[in-house]
Amino acid sequence: MSTDTSSSETVSNTSKEITELDKKHHLHPWQVFDVFREEGALAIAKGEGCYIYDTDGRKYFDAVGGLWCNNIGLGRTEMAQAIADQAMEMSYASPFTDLTNIPAAKLAAKLAELAPADLNRVFFTCGGSTAIDTAFRMIHYYQNCRGKHNKKHIISRLNSYHGSTYAAMSIGGKPGDHPPEFDFISDTIHHLNYPNYYRCAADGMSEEAFVDSLIQEFEDKIIELGTDNVAAFFAEPIMGAGGVIVAPDGYLKRMHAMCKQYDILFVADEVVTAFGRLGHWFACEDEFGIVPDMITCAKGLSSGYQPIGALLFSDAIWDVLDEKDSDRCFAHGFTYSARPVACAAALKNIEILEREKLLENVKEVGPYFQSQLKTLEDLPIVGQVRGLKFMACVEYVANKETKALFPEELDIGKRISNHADKLGLITRAIVHLNVMSPPLIMTRDDVDFIVSTLRQSIELAIADLKEEGLL
Ligand SMILES: Cc1ncc(COP(=O)(O)O)c(C=O)c1O
Repeated sequence: MSTDTSSSETVSNTSKEITELDKKHHLHPWQVFDVFREEGALAIAKGEGCYIYDTDGRKYFDAVGGLWCNNIGLGRTEMAQAIADQAMEMSYASPFTDLTNIPAAKLAAKLAELAPADLNRVFFTCGGSTAIDTAFRMIHYYQNCRGKHNKKHIISRLNSYHGSTYAAMSIGGKPGDHPPEFDFISDTIHHLNYPNYYRCAADGMSEEAFVDSLIQEFEDKIIELGTDNVAAFFAEPIMGAGGVIVAPDGYLKRMHAMCKQYDILFVADEVVTAFGRLGHWFACEDEFGIVPDMITCAKGLSSGYQPIGALLFSDAIWDVLDEKDSDRCFAHGFTYSARPVACAAALKNIEILEREKLLENVKEVGPYFQSQLKTLEDLPIVGQVRGLKFMACVEYVANKETKALFPEELDIGKRISNHADKLGLITRAIVHLNVMSPPLIMTRDDVDFIVSTLRQSIELAIADLKEEGLL
């Protein structure tokens, strides 16, 4: 986000002060040091519904929904009240070993009710990454309990994002997230090609042939690693941070069938896709027709009002862990697992999603959002608009025919999102992409604002490129 504050006379002392304090002391996630040193960060002071306000009172429509997490909208009084009530009643209770609390037990039961098939067991975490790490550890625990001590290998996809703890980041496959300065688990984690037909299919290849090639690659990898040695496969039903990749029809079902064939656990990472973003509580079964062995979720679980995530897993897995007289202990957990205030916020969030029929709103407004965004494809630098319901992405290209990208240092997504910022619209720039995941309360009028503002921002960026002799 651009914060060229020096040129703006409207910038208040408070904004300058906050930016300076922040610059001096705050290391941000994904901070790009050279840029941050110059520009700092935009300080956000307030939020209401789909809107956020900076410390100078400028209003923006947040089409990113925070970070794919603001599902019910910001500034809800009844949510604040639920959080305050729980904090007064019981702000913290240990979840370890043989203690629980009322909101945690109720939330676990509610999640079991909403989850597909026999995914009736819940482990609470602090967010998405810790849910992925919990899945990673539980997978090994489960395979060891079954005597499958060779099942150590994990397979995921290039360009996937699964979080930022050590295992989660190693499972993720975005090249930009694996800079040489960081270390990763590389001996037991493997990445397959990702199902991006627009970018990854060979010239002239049909969608069916592309899916066939991905399925074959998966089987080849399993055979290469040893058919008894692969423990689990991790996949986001729609890849989010990797550029909102909706796989071609049949891909997920066939990957799932391959897992079944080789006794490999299928982990659906629904940190983004659950709690209504695709119009369902969970997308894996209702949208894609697969029942995974584990689901990781976070974000929309509390709509960002409290940090909380969860690993949901099947009764079948539970039965192995819970074997009678095994004298086992599941030595894993966090001080803030099942925190009562976070669980109370999640229960209130689910109540609001149900009462206001927000999943139905996504089913109704989602196709309109996608079809209106698609109209941007007439612009000379828009290569593809893609997505499903309330997940969307615009991909920019230097040449529509060859799909050639702009040089990375040109930062085309950021150039466009900087124009959009000035016009009151927040989109998320990821190199040559702008991604969006608006709150589920978004209306058709909001869609019209997003699309017209994004069009204007792209046109302004095109004019800049022409002026600089880059187009
Ligand atoms: C698919 C997916 N999994 C896991 C995570 C990690 O979640 P958190 O940032 O809450 O740790 C994210 C975050 O963006 C995500 O998009």
